[in-house]
Amino acid sequence: MLSERDLELKSLAEQEIEKHKETVATDPYRLNYHHMPPVGLMNDPNGLIQWRGVYHLFYQWMPFDTTHGAKFWGHYTSENLVNWKHEKIALAPSDTFDRDGVYSGSAISHEGRLYLFYTGNLDGKNGPEQENQCLAVSEDGVTFEKKGVLIETPEGYTAHFRDPKVWKQGDIWYMVVGAQSEDHQGKAVMFSSHDLHNWEHLGTIAGSKEGRNGELGFMWECPDIFELGGKDILMVCPQGLESDGMNYANTYQSGYFAGEMNEHNLQFNHSEFRELDRGFEFYAPQTTVDEKGRRILFGWMGVPEQYEQEHPTIEKHWVHCMTIPRELTWNGEKITQTPVEELSAMRGPVLLHSSVTIENDQKAIRGIQGRSIELNIEIDQLNEMFAIELFQYASLSYKDRILTLSRPHLEERSKTEFRRVGLGEGLRNIRLFIDRSSLEVFVNDGEEVFTSRIFPQPEEEHILFTSLGSTTFSIEKWDLNGYQYE
Ligand code: FRU
Repeated sequence: MLSERDLELKSLAEQEIEKHKETVATDPYRLNYHHMPPVGLMNDPNGLIQWRGVYHLFYQWMPFDTTHGAKFWGHYTSENLVNWKHEKIALAPSDTFDRDGVYSGSAISHEGRLYLFYTGNLDGKNGPEQENQCLAVSEDGVTFEKKGVLIETPEGYTAHFRDPKVWKQGDIWYMVVGAQSEDHQGKAVMFSSHDLHNWEHLGTIAGSKEGRNGELGFMWECPDIFELGGKDILMVCPQGLESDGMNYANTYQSGYFAGEMNEHNLQFNHSEFRELDRGFEFYAPQTTVDEKGRRILFGWMGVPEQYEQEHPTIEKHWVHCMTIPRELTWNGEKITQTPVEELSAMRGPVLLHSSVTIENDQKAIRGIQGRSIELNIEIDQLNEMFAIELFQYASLSYKDRILTLSRPHLEERSKTEFRRVGLGEGLRNIRLFIDRSSLEVFVNDGEEVFTSRIFPQPEEEHILFTSLGSTTFSIEKWDLNGYQYE
């Protein structure tokens, strides 16, 4: 039974959708094939799972404003990762234990039911500040019954204690939570359970100033632990890393450690922290393993407190979106990301130009343009500098083994801002997914990725290619049809 408060909040949120429907629908920056909020602010992907054949993607959602606040869980489902249905609202901040936000969390399947673990946020304005880990359960995958608080924050941590990710190993359930210790260091904290209701606090699996790590942030958000190609991976979002050369350029980071983990003994022999993305907007990714055995990732195309209010969609009453779904693999050295193969169903006919050579020149290439497109560029030869200019706005350029993405600074508009990555072994290929106001660039078969929002003039569709010295490449282009939303 849903409480009166729950029904009231959900109904107010529905009214907010109705109120701004037209404005959002006619915004030229709205996305064609990415998840966006129906109104308000979208952040983290939550509860990602394929359950009884259907993919469920929940999301952090603030319906009443384009700022952060008392979050709801919005909900999308799909049978094929291409056509999505926007479901009714899954969770609202309607209870005493989650009234200031149904914060991020994860989903598992157990005895035919769908379990959601999330953080109930209490912001301290009416009583103590607290973040407790809560449970909601569903029989049908669309209506959820809250079961209340499972885990209160253990001693030694501040009230920043959130984002439970749950999985099963043998007969034991594990949960990892993002935390801040009392001395203000970011940590990933483990719990275990035999029945999903009673949880034992195991301790810290990794963190700032733990093991070989030096200072690695004052708070760790959105941890995720999984196995990939024989490696144990801890993905996490540390807050408070100083920018360092080409690394850690965003306000907050998102990356991973790879190694060998014994969850129960809290042993994790791991590599250094590595960033997952090199673009301007990527944060709080979450993964699941699907029925085909693939490790699928969605990320939030946004970064907390990184000039979020400067996005031009704010005046249209919405902000932020998700990435496209990506498949993760371990290539022996690092995680690579590739768009899931299902996305090729969005393609129209291919346009191919092979062996294009540009020498000390800037050129358009016939038919290579558009704002809802996929481009695949294979480099045959490149001896000095190669650049792709998008819509008189952003530029992707490669020189001296460094790939740079630049765009006008979202806050200080007369300036240009840059994100870079070194490609020690050179540039082999670039795959771009462009969707009106978003750009995802997969480099060298997904070894590096740049995820960013872009806000060129809405009608601008031109793409220019520049080479200093000579560059030869082939290029394929597809128009992308967009998700069919119900
Ligand atoms: C990450 C985050 C999470 C939190 C959620 C609240 O973006 O701050 O740690 O659960 O967003 O919306």
